[in-house]
Amino acid sequence: MVSDKMAKALNAQLNFELYSAYVYLAMSAHADNIGLKGFANWFNAQYQEEMMHATKFFNYIMDRSVVELESIEKPRKEYRDALEMFEETLSHEQEVTARINELASLAIDEKDHATNTFLQWFINEQVEEESTVKEILDKLKLAGSTGPGLFMINSELNTRTYTPPADAQA
Ligand code: FEO
Repeated sequence: MVSDKMAKALNAQLNFELYSAYVYLAMSAHADNIGLKGFANWFNAQYQEEMMHATKFFNYIMDRSVVELESIEKPRKEYRDALEMFEETLSHEQEVTARINELASLAIDEKDHATNTFLQWFINEQVEEESTVKEILDKLKLAGSTGPGLFMINSELNTRTYTPPADAQA
């Protein structure tokens, strides 16, 4: 069992991962609505990745405590342009990183080694998430978020496919 405080914090993160999935699903819909099919594809893959993150938290909490599902905040529906969507994505991922770090600090404070070990996967995952998003954001700034530059990035983002990791249910 984990402590009540730890269980509350893990359940809050489960909710935030579900909210993250919602944010990217809404971005996918918005990108599709404005004709950016490649961006829609990328955000849909990101949505699936967040659902996998949520499943990991769900399964861990089920193993060690009690799952408490709370309501999920409504995500934003529209964005100015593709650049704003990726600025928002980077800022969202930075927020996720901060929350995961807080959880890991709590696990250390509580000498909860199992939870700390569980969180290491997310700590590594966030390094990759932030780096991937920053790379796309830099491209949008360099190539431009309109015209041929945007068309090129849209084609590139259309190639992303989501492959669940072998331990996705772990
Ligand atoms: Fe679940 Fe993108 O962090």
